[in-house]
Amino acid sequence: MFKANENYLKLPGNYLFSTIASRIEAYGKANPDKAASIVRLGIGDVTQPLAPSIVKALHEAVDEMADAATFRGYAPDLGYDFLRETIARCDFEARGAEIHPDEVFVSDGAKSDSANIQEIFSDDARIAVCDPVYPVYVDSNVMAGRTGTYDEATGLWSDVTYMPCTSDNGFIADPPSTDADISLIYLCFPNNPTGAVISRPRLQAWVDYANEHGAVIVYDAAYEAYITDPELPHSIYECDGARSCAIEIRSFSKNAGFTGTRLGYTVVPRDLKDENGVALRDLWARRHGTKFNGAPYIVQRAGEAVYSEAGQRETREQIRYYMDNAHVILDGLTAAGFQVFGGVNAPYIWLKVPDGMSSWEFFDMLLERVQVVGTPGSGFGPSGEGYFRLTAFGSRESALEAVRRIKSL
Ligand code: MLT
Repeated sequence: MFKANENYLKLPGNYLFSTIASRIEAYGKANPDKAASIVRLGIGDVTQPLAPSIVKALHEAVDEMADAATFRGYAPDLGYDFLRETIARCDFEARGAEIHPDEVFVSDGAKSDSANIQEIFSDDARIAVCDPVYPVYVDSNVMAGRTGTYDEATGLWSDVTYMPCTSDNGFIADPPSTDADISLIYLCFPNNPTGAVISRPRLQAWVDYANEHGAVIVYDAAYEAYITDPELPHSIYECDGARSCAIEIRSFSKNAGFTGTRLGYTVVPRDLKDENGVALRDLWARRHGTKFNGAPYIVQRAGEAVYSEAGQRETREQIRYYMDNAHVILDGLTAAGFQVFGGVNAPYIWLKVPDGMSSWEFFDMLLERVQVVGTPGSGFGPSGEGYFRLTAFGSRESALEAVRRIKSL
C-alpha cells in the first residue's frame, strides 16, 4: 500500500486564509440575514479593478493571440525578455541597484515563488523566520521535512529559528549577535502582517550578517510600492553586498491589482553561490525549466504595461486610495482607544486586541457582534497572539464602516 508524504501530516490545521474563509462561510450559513453585511478586511486581496492601461495591454495581447501571424505558444520558461528587461531597468537600475535581466525569473506570483524557493536549498538547511510571519514560508518548509517537530503548546517547530517581532522591538528583528547556524533567513518588508518597515542601515546589517555567516536572505518585497518615505529601501539590492547573499521576491498583486491575474518574479543574482561555488541562479533556472511553463503572454504584456507612464500614474493612484483607507482605519481605531501599528508605508494595520482576549476570541467577537472580518495575529505565529490584522485593500466604504462598527462595540 502506498504512503502519503508524512511531512504534510505534520501541518497543524489548514492554511490560515482557508480557515478564515470557512469560518466566514459557516457564519453566513448560520446567520443568512447578516451574511450580506459582512465587511471583509481579512485576506489582503485587492478590490480596485485593473487600471485602464493594463486592461488595454491585455486586450491588445489577446488580439495578438487571435491572429496566426502574432500568436504565441509556450512562453519562455524564465519570462519574456521584454518584461525581464523592463523589470531590471525600472525596479532596480532606477534605484541604483545592479540586477541584470537574466537574473529575473518571471512567475505566476510571489506566493508560489516564496513557497518553492526552499527547494534549491539542502534538506538540512535551517530556516529563520520573523514571528509573526506570512505562513507560506514555514508551511512550505514543513512540507519539505525541514522543520522538525511541532509543539502544540508553544506553536513552534523544533528546527526553526524564530525571531520574535513585538512592540518591544518595533516589530523588527535584528540579526543574531553570534553565528546562529542558519542557512535561510526569510525577511518581508514592508511587513506582512505587522506593517513594519525597515530602514536601510538595519537592512544593511542583515546583509552584512548573511555575507559574514554564509546565509541567504529571501527578501519578500511584495509590498514595496506602498513605501512613501524616500529614506526607506524598496529592494534589498540597494544594500552593499546583497548580490552575494540575497534573493528577492516581487509581486504584481498588490502594486497593480494582479491577485486574480497572477504575475510575480524572483531575482537570483549570479554572485549568489553556495560553499561549493554552486550558483543558486542556475538551480532556480533549472527548477523553473522543469516545473514551470512560463506565465501567460497576455499577462506578461499586462505586467509590462504597469511600468508605462500611464500604468505608473494609474497604479500609484490606486495605491494612494488604499493608503487613504489605511489612514481611515489607523486614525479611527486610534481615536477609539486601540493601540495600532503599521498602516504607514504598508497596507496592513496591526492592532493590539483588548486585554484578556486572544486573537481568535477577538476575531469571533468582531464577526458575531459587528460582522467585521480581520485576521487573528496568532495565525501568523505565537508572537502574533494578542494582535489582529486589518487590510487597507477594501473599498473606502468598507474601511469607514469597519471603523464605525468596531467603535460601536
Ligand atoms: C495576505 O492576506 O497575507 C495575503 O493576501 C496573502 C497572499 O498574498 O498570499
